[in-house]
Amino acid sequence: MTFTAAPALSGSVAVPGDKSISHRSLMLSALAVGESRVEGLLEGEDVLATAAAMRAMGADIERDADGIWHIHGVGVGGLLQPETALGMGNSGTSTRLLMGLLASHDLTATFTGDASLSKRPMARVTEPLARMGASFTTSPGDRLPLTMRGACPAVPLDYRLPVASAQVKSAILLAGLNTPGITRVVEPIPTRDHSERMLRGFGAELDVEVEADGTRIITLVGEAELKPQQIVVPGDPSSAAFPMVAALLVPGSQVTIANVGLNKTRAGLIDLLREMGGSIEVINPREVGGEPVGDLAVTASALKGVEPDPARAPSMIDEYPVAFIAAALAQGRSVFRGLEELRVKESDRIATMAAGLRAIGVTVEELEDGIIIEGSGGAPLAGGGPIATKLDHRIAMSFAVAGLVSRDGVMIDDMAPVATSFPTFVPLLRTLGALA
Ligand code: S3P
Repeated sequence: MTFTAAPALSGSVAVPGDKSISHRSLMLSALAVGESRVEGLLEGEDVLATAAAMRAMGADIERDADGIWHIHGVGVGGLLQPETALGMGNSGTSTRLLMGLLASHDLTATFTGDASLSKRPMARVTEPLARMGASFTTSPGDRLPLTMRGACPAVPLDYRLPVASAQVKSAILLAGLNTPGITRVVEPIPTRDHSERMLRGFGAELDVEVEADGTRIITLVGEAELKPQQIVVPGDPSSAAFPMVAALLVPGSQVTIANVGLNKTRAGLIDLLREMGGSIEVINPREVGGEPVGDLAVTASALKGVEPDPARAPSMIDEYPVAFIAAALAQGRSVFRGLEELRVKESDRIATMAAGLRAIGVTVEELEDGIIIEGSGGAPLAGGGPIATKLDHRIAMSFAVAGLVSRDGVMIDDMAPVATSFPTFVPLLRTLGALA
């Protein structure tokens, strides 16, 4: 598919439900006894992989005609042995969180994934979960496909995260749910806190202590009992990032993105774009389902280059690809560092973005832990392609946005991965008038 120079974008749109919260809604509801209801669930392939896995282990999960999801859980510790391998598709979150959940259940499960997921490191979860008593047979390099055997009872863990990862934190906390005693996770650099908020919401005894230097100490009392909940999932800020950057870059645009999750642990891109000179206004800030939410009014703006503090990385970890597109249109040079985690996402996002940006005429220097981008000062990018998206939804959407501000258009080799997180991406761009 080729994306070409767009006229000014206008209108009001809403993005689908938050992916992180959607996964957790299904997993925690599947562990509560009784019926939970989830409104606004992201119906993307990644979340549907989680739903299929929870069904395969005994939860009853149905979507009604109004789009509300109804989940009857089995109780903490009640998951059943799945009869076939759990197909995780492209979803690292499904894989790592479910490995945690199963680590304290008396069952054996095999996880498989697509070519992208099968390249991603799993030692970051197998190592702590093995200390809790689970055992793993992995493919070379601690990768998928892998088979795990849970431990019941598991041994509670006191763990300091060696990498800033909400998936690793969440895997350990989920394992702790069915583990006698207290599971403790020490998080030196804060990451998204949806697991903590939701575990508490479901009735688990969970405490967070924040030390003077910002280190978070999370304690969870095991053998928890979860109570069914009514959940409203806010719009995904990681999906809102694409129309947000598009509206800033396409001259004359004025766009409203409704119902966007604004949790501080996720909102780093908004801060960054504002520092670059972007006009983004939060309208009607409110709370939905225990999460801060607002509508974003975005007006096209001239941007300037930045050198963002790497400490901000976890709060916008999934937004760097589209932030690099914003930098490519900014005035001056941007230097992004401290981003080694980007090399183990759905693709190596430093290498994939560097190659794609070069292919559309942007001058970049790839660093071990980041990238240096020379901005065009607002002049359209040359364009070209096809861009190799490497089964990475966020690469595809980032270069689609680049196409809207290009001279010759940007061709994307494969838009199919977009269905993992943002199935309505192309129709949403059409609503804004971005597509011919
Ligand atoms: C996620 C955590 C992040 C993020 C991913 C979703 C989550 O991964 O990139 O898209 O829902 O916990 P890491 O924990 O690997 O940083």
